[in-house]
Amino acid sequence: MSATLLHNEIYDTLTMYHLSNALRTVKRLCCSAVLCYSTLLAIAKPTMTGSSTAPLFLANLTLGDDGIWGNVEPSQYQKVEQTLREEVANAEYDDYLLEISKHHSIEVMDKEVKDFIQRIPVNGVICDVGGCWGWHWRNLHIYRPDISVVIVDFVRANLQHARKLLGDVVGSNIFLVHGDATNLSFKDEIFDGYWSVQTLQHIPDLRIALREAKRVLKEGGVFTNYSLNNSSLMQKIYSFFQKEYVIDSFTSTFYLRRDNVQSCRVYLEYFYSKSKISYSEILFKPEFRIWHSGRTGSLLGKIDSLLSGDMQLLGPFARQISVHAIKPTQLPLSTIGQ
Ligand SMILES: C[S@@+](CC[C@H](N)C(=O)[O-])C[C@H]1O[C@@H](n2cnc3c(N)ncnc32)[C@H](O)[C@@H]1O
Repeated sequence: MSATLLHNEIYDTLTMYHLSNALRTVKRLCCSAVLCYSTLLAIAKPTMTGSSTAPLFLANLTLGDDGIWGNVEPSQYQKVEQTLREEVANAEYDDYLLEISKHHSIEVMDKEVKDFIQRIPVNGVICDVGGCWGWHWRNLHIYRPDISVVIVDFVRANLQHARKLLGDVVGSNIFLVHGDATNLSFKDEIFDGYWSVQTLQHIPDLRIALREAKRVLKEGGVFTNYSLNNSSLMQKIYSFFQKEYVIDSFTSTFYLRRDNVQSCRVYLEYFYSKSKISYSEILFKPEFRIWHSGRTGSLLGKIDSLLSGDMQLLGPFARQISVHAIKPTQLPLSTIGQ
C-alpha cells in the first residue's frame, strides 16, 4: 500500500469518527431540548390549560394553582372591607350550611334560585357577583345541569370555601373567579343572567357596578339583585329592641346601603325592561336569633319562601328587597343609564 493510500484511509477513518461524534452530540442536544420543552409545558400547564380549554366566558383569565381564575388587587373603595373579610374567611367551618343559615334563609333563597334559573335559556351562563361560598348553586346539577355559573368574589379565601362546599362541580359547570364587581374581567355581553345577593349594597358607588352588570349581560339577559330592605316599621322594631339598623352609611367594617322602592329606581335606569320589585325573608330575622328558621328543611323557612314574592303588603316586614329585570334589546348601550 502506498503512503498516499494509507494517508487517505486514516483521513477517512478520522472523518467518520468526528462525524459520528458530531451526530451523537446533535442527538444529545435534541433530546435535552425536547426534555426542557416538556418540563416547561408541565410547569406552565395551569396557564396553558386556562387559555386553550377555558370556556369562552373565561377568556383572558388565568387559572391559579388553587383552581380559581383571575386575580384582583384590593378594591379602591372597599379596601378595609376586603381586608377584614379576607381575615374572617380564614376561619375553618365544619358545617357550611349551618353557618350560612345564621345569615340567610336557605329555604327562601333556594326557592328564589329555582325561580331565577327557570328564566335562563338552555346552556345559559350566569354570573353570581359577590357569590362568596357559592352555596346557591349546590343543587344546580340536579335542576339545570346545562347551565354554567361563574362565581365572582373579591375575597379569594371565600372562593376557596366555595370550592370545598361545592366539591366536584367546580371546574365542570361552576367556575370561581377572583374579581371585582366594579371592574369585571369579562368580555361584553357574555352572560344570560346576573345574580347578586347582598353584595351591591356594600359598594359605595352602585352605578359603577350597574354599568358593569349592563356591559356583561347579553341583550334579553336576566338581572336580579337582592339587598337588605329599608323599612321604617322594621327600623322602629329594631330600635325598640336596641338592635342596630344601618340604612345608608359606613359602619366600622363596611359600607351598607339598604334599598326601598324609591332607591330601586337606580337599577331600573339600567334595566328598565320588564322589571319587578319583590320582597323576601319576611319571617327570617337573624338579629333576633331565631336561627332555626334559616336552616334547610325549616318549616318556618318553607312558609317564608311561600310568603316571599311581589306582595307589596308584606314589604314593611321583609328583610330583603329585590329587583328583577331584563336588559333591553335593540337599544344602543350608550343610551341606557349612562
Ligand atoms: C354579604 S356577602 C353575600 C354573599 C353571597 N352573595 C350569599 O348570598 O351568601 C357579600 C359578598 O360580596 C363580596 N363582595 C363585596 N364587595 C365586592 C366587590 N366589589 N366585588 C366582588 N365581591 C364583593 C364579599 O367578599 C362577600 O363575599
